[in-house]
Amino acid sequence: MSTTAQEPQLTFLRACRNLSVEHTPVWFMRQAGRYMPEYRAIRQKYTLLEICARPELAAEVTLQPVHALGVDAAILFADILLPLIPMGIDLEFAAGEGPVIHNPVRSAADVERLRMVEPSESLDHVLEAVRIVRRELEGKTPLIGFAGAPFTLVSYIIEGGSSKNYLKTKGMMIEQPETWDRLMQALTILVSDYLTAQIEAGAQAVQLFDSWAGAALGPDDYRDYVLPYSRRIFERIRQTGVPAIHFSVGAGTYLPLLREAGGDVIGLDWRTPVGWGRHMLGDGVAVQGNLDPAALFYPRKELEKRVCAVLDQAAGQPGHIFNLGHGVLPETPVENVRAVVEIVHEHNQRRE
Ligand code: CP3
Repeated sequence: MSTTAQEPQLTFLRACRNLSVEHTPVWFMRQAGRYMPEYRAIRQKYTLLEICARPELAAEVTLQPVHALGVDAAILFADILLPLIPMGIDLEFAAGEGPVIHNPVRSAADVERLRMVEPSESLDHVLEAVRIVRRELEGKTPLIGFAGAPFTLVSYIIEGGSSKNYLKTKGMMIEQPETWDRLMQALTILVSDYLTAQIEAGAQAVQLFDSWAGAALGPDDYRDYVLPYSRRIFERIRQTGVPAIHFSVGAGTYLPLLREAGGDVIGLDWRTPVGWGRHMLGDGVAVQGNLDPAALFYPRKELEKRVCAVLDQAAGQPGHIFNLGHGVLPETPVENVRAVVEIVHEHNQRRE
């Protein structure tokens, strides 16, 4: 189901492969979510985890921004932390607090207690959502599957939630290298199996979110303690032939290491100018990004100027996917998100 005759024509998939496109494709990280009234209406009745556990609801929420915004790709509605639940991680999304893990992993004995996960069994609700969305989209809009990268996941598992300084995570990395390796290996296998299962269910591209690697680690630590695991995931994905996007926040100074780890597309945050990012990365890889999410709160003229600035940096060369430099913020006005889609689509026509 993952390849259809229509697929090579889809702008987003062409851009992932560095092929020429008629207009720059655009989608947004967190394009389904609290800034949308349709999402808030569903969230009044169900928790985040309930939406993720019910494939029809997850599929409905996935499709909301496709219909409301006209984006060039859908991203499956799920969360990077979902696969931790069948591992035995006690996860809760506490109101106003973000994710909370009640049994953080801090020792070799804690790692021993974790269960191996077979995604086709314990994450089948996610795979079923993929199948429903693919049916509903009828091949017109491609569907992106995703997972968290081992470092970003391990930071939640060890810290017990979000973190500023990642001291416990770095503590295990340096002081318990064997435990670190066992935990990172287990996550590498889980994420590889999970992404492969999403692709088998119909995902036409996948994004690996290593959101916090760039925020937490310098290049040497990234190379020594993280890169080898992420690389194994991209090697597995490459065998499927489906394009992979590799995203991190704050990794601008070591983009070549992200590229070395893998991905057909590298996601840039908004602190990294697109032209400079491309220069650092070299040829043969596409880039995604990277409007500052705050620009969606600025007056229309300023927003338009900044969207065009990102597009001009990409200079009409193939292999650019427009996105924000991180996720859409919850208070973002919907009409501004829609305006960005229009500006991006029209920009290339104006250039021609
Ligand atoms: O992009 C999409 O539209 C698809 C859905 C999606 C969600 N989470 C739904 C969600 C995706 C791709 C994610 C990824 C994710 N989740 C990341 C990586 C991307 C990034 O932002 O760096 C991370 C680090 C998480 C972990 C997570 N989930 C946090 C820290 C939070 C709380 C913070 C917040 O924004 O409230 C979540 C909750 C979450 N996941 C929400 C959504 C829409 C908030 C929604 C709600 O309560 O309804």
